[in-house]
Amino acid sequence: MTPSPSVPAELRSLNGHLFHVSKAPDKLRHLINDLSRAAKYISYAIKTTEAGLAGSVNMFGEEQVKLDVLSDRIIQEHLRENLLVSSYACEEHDSIVDLSPDAPYAVAFDPLDGSSLVDANLAIGSIFGIYEGKEIIGHTPREQVAALYVLYGPRTLLVYSTGSGVHEFLLNDVGEFILLREHLGIGDNAKNFSPGNLRGIDESQGYRDIVESWLSQQMTLRYSGCLVADVHHIFSKGQGIFTFPASHKYPQGKLRHAFECGPFAYLVNQAGGAASDGTQEILDIPITAVDQRCPLFIGSKNEVQRLCTSLAMKK
Ligand code: AHG
Ligand code: MN
Ligand code: MN
Repeated sequence: MTPSPSVPAELRSLNGHLFHVSKAPDKLRHLINDLSRAAKYISYAIKTTEAGLAGSVNMFGEEQVKLDVLSDRIIQEHLRENLLVSSYACEEHDSIVDLSPDAPYAVAFDPLDGSSLVDANLAIGSIFGIYEGKEIIGHTPREQVAALYVLYGPRTLLVYSTGSGVHEFLLNDVGEFILLREHLGIGDNAKNFSPGNLRGIDESQGYRDIVESWLSQQMTLRYSGCLVADVHHIFSKGQGIFTFPASHKYPQGKLRHAFECGPFAYLVNQAGGAASDGTQEILDIPITAVDQRCPLFIGSKNEVQRLCTSLAMKK
């Protein structure tokens, strides 16, 4: 897949696109460029680092793999040197980390999403949400000024929005992110479904009903175990629904509000889709803690709505 030759060369690089097309403020453009540079190092590290455990756990009690720790360090180093970040919250730290007090942005990130899939050699990703100001606590994901993710699969892709559509870039052989597709859209109706935490069907008749309706409609199953890859599938096909409900094992859901649900809610909303925790839009749920989790139902609008209605009717 290559961008239309009608797109002038200066608009095809990530930096050119941020400057000329999205007209991002300079400091935000610099920050996104720096995050994209960190992602190039992570992309390289994935190919060259041993897949084993690090021998440590994160604040969620999850065992870290070496690449979790390394990716976290790579991103932190890039955030530290640019003096654009006042503070950040990250999946691998149990509290907010303060950087440059007067800097314009606060960042929430999941350095390596799907890291339990590293040894299986499946696609994994990094997720970033960017806020103006000193910190993310007390804000809602709707207040993000940008969100982006990087998908490390057979190819490395970067998808970003600064509030004017969602745009996809491919990391080329000389290390430049080059425009693949602009203005990704998500249609209202889903043909594909990506059902996380199916344990939930034993605890919610509403969730069971909806999963059974997907099976009886012979919808196509696509679930990899990496949120970035699974939601990117929705972006790439222009439709679909991803679910991760709460259940006995995960009473608040598993996915993290600040680093996982929030950035994807922003991106999916920009593409015309929807994201809910079952009762309210993810975009409107305030971030109250770094380790906050929430159920996530995200993708094609009509299907997210149908699911929320089913959950409300039968608990
Ligand atoms: P992380 O690797 O950052 O801990 O995130 C893993 C998440 C998410 O990527 C995925 O959607 C979900 O965990 C998968 O959970 P299951 O393995 O329970 O399906
Ligand atoms: Mn994750
Ligand atoms: Mn992670």
